[in-house]
Amino acid sequence: MRIEDPKVVAALPELNVELRRAASLAELTSLAIGGTTDLLRIQKQESIPGLLSLLDSHGVGHRFLGGGSNLLISDGELPWVVVQLASPDPDIVLDGNFADVDAAADLGRTVTYCAKHDLGGMEGLIGVPGTVGGALRMNAGAYGMQIGSYVREVKLYRAASRRIEILRGEQISFEYRHTSFAPDDMMLAVKLELPSKPYKEILQGIRICNEKRRSSQPLGQKSAGCIFKNPPGASAGRMIDELGLKGLNVGDARVSDRHANFFVNAGKASAQDMLALISDVQGRVRSAFNVELEHEVVIWNG
Ligand code: EPU
Repeated sequence: MRIEDPKVVAALPELNVELRRAASLAELTSLAIGGTTDLLRIQKQESIPGLLSLLDSHGVGHRFLGGGSNLLISDGELPWVVVQLASPDPDIVLDGNFADVDAAADLGRTVTYCAKHDLGGMEGLIGVPGTVGGALRMNAGAYGMQIGSYVREVKLYRAASRRIEILRGEQISFEYRHTSFAPDDMMLAVKLELPSKPYKEILQGIRICNEKRRSSQPLGQKSAGCIFKNPPGASAGRMIDELGLKGLNVGDARVSDRHANFFVNAGKASAQDMLALISDVQGRVRSAFNVELEHEVVIWNG
């Protein structure tokens, strides 16, 4: 979608919003899949309510983009614009055991920055791509930990109230790859409380998690992490593997040979290829195990 209305275009600089015309979303997602649209980069969080009411009043639909690492976006020209936060400098501020982290901060860098200041707990998240905001929204976790356990406060833009609000940790429910945030809430910042641990000890934990991840996941390839959530008490990856589906493909969309719940873009996969593969695998698992696999990857249809 192109923002055509000159009134909207003229108002953007006053709101500290940078307009990038016809951005390729494939370049902004870890799957390297996605069509084109105008991208609005927000330099100041305070501008968000003004920007969104401007877009609403001119009939310009929008989606919030974080790090693009758990996202499958349709091909072609998209019927909405994309809004993304620019990261401030610094994006992490420490105070004792508390870390105030901007939602646009890189998750892996946050884990290592805190580690260097003897703050641990998040070792399992090393190697999970994306931003802190994205991790927060889906309660990212691995190796027995989840980010929600450390959340004390979240600053967010609530579309329902059209205001920036602060929620205390107790007001948010964090479950397995699920949170109580509304789909149109935009994460802005989080206050984490992390346990004190010597850097060397944290580093040891980070190395172990890195090693496990390297040996079981296709890290160098274009993927969105796990495509499906694990059903209660089972592993989606193991079920898909048991059906002999590693290497199954639709065009360049392929079930990873290394971990069957990772679907990789092995070349120039389209969103259609990837969606067809997802639905094929879902159908086969349904027939064989009578289990309905739920998407973990977020799908933005055009
Ligand atoms: N397995 C297979 N074949 C496969 C994949 C897995 O037999 O192709 C078996 C493994 O051998 C193991 C079991 O299935 O016995 C579980 O596998 P794994 O330890 O790799 O964990 P997972 O349940 O597949 C989950 C998360 C990952 C997270 C790892 C480590 C989900 C959907 N996946 O994977 O998170 O990194 O545990 O904690 O919850 C993600 O969410 O994107 C993600 C990668």
